[in-house]
Amino acid sequence: MARLLLLLGAAMVLLASAATAQDCLSATFSGGRTFGKCNSMPTLSASLHWTYHPENGTADVAFRAPSDTSGWVGWGINPTSGNSMVGSSVFIASQDSSGVVSVLMTYLETTSQPALTNNTFKFNVPIGPAAEYSDGAYTIYATVELPGNSTQQYTVWQAGPTSNGAIAQHPLSPSNRASTQSLDFLSGSSTAASNSKLHRRNIHGLLNAIAWGILIPIGAIIARYLRVFESADPAWFYLHIVCQCSGYILGVAGWGLGLKLGSESAGITYKPHRNLGIAIFSLATLQVFALLLRPDKKNKYRLYWNIYHHSVGYSVIVLSAINIFKGLDILQPASGYKTAYIVILATLGGIALCLEAITWPIAIRKRRRNAADKAAVGNGNGWQQGA
Ligand SMILES: *[C@@H]1O[C@H](CO)[C@@H](O)[C@H](O)[C@H]1NC(C)=O
Ligand SMILES: *[C@@H]1O[C@H](CO)[C@@H](O)[C@H](O)[C@H]1NC(C)=O
Ligand SMILES: *[C@@H]1O[C@H](CO)[C@@H](O)[C@H](O)[C@H]1NC(C)=O
Repeated sequence: MARLLLLLGAAMVLLASAATAQDCLSATFSGGRTFGKCNSMPTLSASLHWTYHPENGTADVAFRAPSDTSGWVGWGINPTSGNSMVGSSVFIASQDSSGVVSVLMTYLETTSQPALTNNTFKFNVPIGPAAEYSDGAYTIYATVELPGNSTQQYTVWQAGPTSNGAIAQHPLSPSNRASTQSLDFLSGSSTAASNSKLHRRNIHGLLNAIAWGILIPIGAIIARYLRVFESADPAWFYLHIVCQCSGYILGVAGWGLGLKLGSESAGITYKPHRNLGIAIFSLATLQVFALLLRPDKKNKYRLYWNIYHHSVGYSVIVLSAINIFKGLDILQPASGYKTAYIVILATLGGIALCLEAITWPIAIRKRRRNAADKAAVGNGNGWQQGA
């Protein structure tokens, strides 16, 4: 089981990073511009593309980040300290109501309401800047002289709304707070700002996605379809129990971590995500305890227990999928993760549909035979009333 989990986790991370790397490598730019290296940032679905020139210590960069037309995006370098917007010189792209994009080059002297005075950079920008908006994303182009002629720089990026055409404060979500990283323009390697909270949020997300989003649906698929095959009895039952129990244990760990993260984040609460999480946990716990109250197969109440067990189980799966998307919207990891989850969901759905088509005729045949047996012997044991 541990191996299967590891495999599932690895598959999810691989899928996500493949999709993310693809995002960054497959990007194309206007005016025939090309860049030698690229980096998909860990937050806000942003990416940086650049070509470094060691001869003169400059880098041609393109920063791309999604935004709606009423938003702004920014990227810059902090020559003095990591993990901080104060002290950064940043390019900020926004557009007016007629769609004309302009770039502001400003030094950030404070976190609360910086003056945003144009042309106050603390390092040289030999060429540019220029910016454009297309396909729901801004791209900012510039050639920067890397401060201190060093290839290792602290970079910052951000996205936010405008208010009456003016740059307004960006949201304070975890991803907006964690959008800094140290980047080596020569090797391309990056180190996200050490942010243990973001790290724990990612673990919370991964645990819950694997538990509630993968293991529990697989367990339900096993119970619904495998038991139709006589040869799979009682193996399907044990597989079902193993999937649901390990899903529940992992899921409770992920849920507990979520509650802890929630209690630490004073000021910002994600109410719908939190409440859905609590509802899912309660329903799933009910499922576990209901096992103890399961009437015997021949008991006349078993049919009602089955109806209850199925409806609560399917509700947990649907609510979990909704809540995983809510969590992804809060965390805004690199866009590959959402894609990976959608691919997994579609795959599970596709498998269920195929099995539905395969098992229907078998189930009907079995039911007919059972009915015939019942008529002949006067003693039935319908498969649909199995565990
Ligand atoms: C930057 O450093 C490189 C050597 O690493 C040197 O060749 C280049 O002239 C320097 N550029 C500037 C602008 O100082
Ligand atoms: C820096 O050097 C590169 C490669 O030699 C050259 O193409 C580019 O124009 C130079 N940039 C500046 C600002 O001098
Ligand atoms: C900042 O100043 C430059 C000219 O120095 C101008 O081209 C640019 O549009 C200004 N940016 C904004 C947002 O006004």
